[in-house]
Amino acid sequence: MRRAKISIIGAGNVGATCAHWAASKELGDIVLIDIPEIEVTKPDGTKEKVPFTMPAGKALDLYEASPVEGYDSKIIGTSDYSKTADSDVVIVTAGIARKPGMSRDDLIATNTKIVREVAQNVAKHSPKAIMIVVSNPLDAMVYVAWKASGFPTNQIIGQAGVLDAARYRSFLAEEIGCSVEDVQALLLGGHGDDMVPLPRYTFAGGIPIAQLVKKERLEQIVQRARDGGAEIVKLLKTGSAYYAPAAATVQMAEAIIKDKKRILPCAAYCEKEYGVGGYFVGVPCVLGTNGVERVIQIELDDNEKKAFQTSVDHVKELVKTVKL
Ligand code: NAI
Ligand code: 2OP
Repeated sequence: MRRAKISIIGAGNVGATCAHWAASKELGDIVLIDIPEIEVTKPDGTKEKVPFTMPAGKALDLYEASPVEGYDSKIIGTSDYSKTADSDVVIVTAGIARKPGMSRDDLIATNTKIVREVAQNVAKHSPKAIMIVVSNPLDAMVYVAWKASGFPTNQIIGQAGVLDAARYRSFLAEEIGCSVEDVQALLLGGHGDDMVPLPRYTFAGGIPIAQLVKKERLEQIVQRARDGGAEIVKLLKTGSAYYAPAAATVQMAEAIIKDKKRILPCAAYCEKEYGVGGYFVGVPCVLGTNGVERVIQIELDDNEKKAFQTSVDHVKELVKTVKL
């Protein structure tokens, strides 16, 4: 049986950690791609361009861990897209990450150029791949990748909801004093600051969350999850989160590679769904071999609809600024 092939574009913190989780789950062979050269400053102060060998180094290091961890995955790092040919899943993490004081939206100009070029290369070498976009600002970058690749909408998904829900679930489990595995939660809308938590659809061990956590405390937890990205940026000081984002992304890749038909909150293309009108926003999706196999429409009350609309309006504003 042919092993699945996963290409990860951007071998930085999120990309390399995706490779780590994917290898440890033995999801398939992995190609890590990054830029061919970087500029370095020589001792005399002049600058020169040198080959960027970091992805090859990270890939070799991960491969050398395989006898210990027991995974049979080929892992390579390169800047040559031909090595990604016929990937089943491509994860896009290329771009700059935010630093303290920056919002996700501050990354838009730089990352639009990068994601556009990356998506074109992905479409050229792996026209059938399912592309999972991670680069920020997520809700706009997934739109850029869709336009630049020309992929059908089921082949493009953005990762945000699994991460936002994981933050929310972990804080809730801590509050309740229960296993993180027992907390189920659903979020809609844009990434992070814009997410729309749905307490009516949040349960611990099948028990509605309202019976376990007081309303005021729940509001504090929701706010912490919403600010989850900024909380990590403030602590790290040199970049943004990567363990939880990579774990979330690899959970989506696993659902696709194993055709698990998992229902996960993802940034998926919605036309008539939720009345969105042709944008990628966070909604519950069925993920399988064909990527986004179905967007599930759930019932929302008036307050939930209002919060979702505010989030969608922000996504639309962001997309306007990418000038496609
Ligand atoms: P990083 O700076 O550690 O890695 C980014 C990598 O992309 C670098 O190695 C860089 O050389 C590479 N890159 C730049 N231009 C490229 C190109 N044209 N082709 C290939 N590679 C290229 O950043 P990190 O922490 O890995 O974050 C990556 C992106 O993911 C950022 O935009 C960040 O904001 C976003 N992010 C999104 C999350 C989400 O939930 N959607 C969560 C965490 C990060
Ligand atoms: C996060 O939420 C930076 O979007 C990234 O951590």
